[in-house]
Amino acid sequence: MRSRSVRTIEWRNGVVVTIDQTKLPNEEAFVEMRSCEHVAEAISTMKIRGAPLLGVAAAFALALTAYHSKARQKEELTDELESAAKIIRKTRPTAVNLFWALDRILVKVKGFSGELKDLAALVVEEAQKIAEEDVDANRSMGKYGAELFVDGDVVLTHCNAGALATVAYGTALGVIRACWEQGKKVRVIATETRPKLQGARLTAYELKRDGIPVTLITDNMVGYVMHRGMVDKVIVGADRIVQDAVINKIGTFTIAVLAKEHGVPFYVAAPRSTFDLTIKSSEAAIEERESEEVTHIGSQRIAAEGVEVLNPAFDVTPLDYVTAVICENGILYKEDFRKFKPCHSK
Ligand code: MRU
Repeated sequence: MRSRSVRTIEWRNGVVVTIDQTKLPNEEAFVEMRSCEHVAEAISTMKIRGAPLLGVAAAFALALTAYHSKARQKEELTDELESAAKIIRKTRPTAVNLFWALDRILVKVKGFSGELKDLAALVVEEAQKIAEEDVDANRSMGKYGAELFVDGDVVLTHCNAGALATVAYGTALGVIRACWEQGKKVRVIATETRPKLQGARLTAYELKRDGIPVTLITDNMVGYVMHRGMVDKVIVGADRIVQDAVINKIGTFTIAVLAKEHGVPFYVAAPRSTFDLTIKSSEAAIEERESEEVTHIGSQRIAAEGVEVLNPAFDVTPLDYVTAVICENGILYKEDFRKFKPCHSK
């Protein structure tokens, strides 16, 4: 993260290195993962998070399994890869990128007819390809998305859809970066994003490092800033875009409703691997996380012991609230959805 070219996750000859996002912004600590179990632990504890990064991490979990495998037969390695995929599938249910990356590699494995050693190489190669494609997709989204913004815009964003949520550059923050690269000096309002504070800890950190002006607010200040005319546009990322809605970090829907009420355009930036047009929002799994994330801030308890807690990590924003979705192929308005070919389709 020291410069824009440094990556959030990297494959280094049988070791996957990533920055521990739970320690930011106070400490830049790196984690070395050598097995699928290490990756699963990093995902569950949110050392690794953000939909596109979860996809790449899932792919690298299979790459680690293949690289370190002692299998003597192709069938044995295939079984090991399927078991590893099962472990990763149980980590976090909402971001479809994770499932998409596993399926993409397993389809390749099943269709492979060569030697055992070439099968392992194929898995590693495909995982690296998925990581490279993420960087390209973000750059492309940045280029298309920047067309929607003008010099001086104040843009509100939620959670972290930046370089840290991807391999590099970011989705929503990639669009903001692209604006700056084109000389459009947009300013950002970042919501803190309770309960895990990705906005305060990660988005503010990333933008400050890049010298992009950012003002941090608490989640319940969105109505205040919109009512005062302080926000020109909203841009967020997504964990899954389904037939009728965008599923993203809890609090996104509230922001979308406020944006509609105040006539503020609401944009979503997400790669094709985030689209899951096979299902409706009512069929999508929304992750529920442990109650301590709500009863505590960091390690500090703030709520009475034993209080009942609801902690959904994501919410559903119907497409009626979405002005447009920016993907690597261009800008999609609602009427374009039916014609669109995402990575997952029936
Ligand atoms: O729980 P998280 O931090 O993994 O949630 C992340 C988000 O909701 C992001 O907005 C989304 O994954 C898009 S990231 C480009």
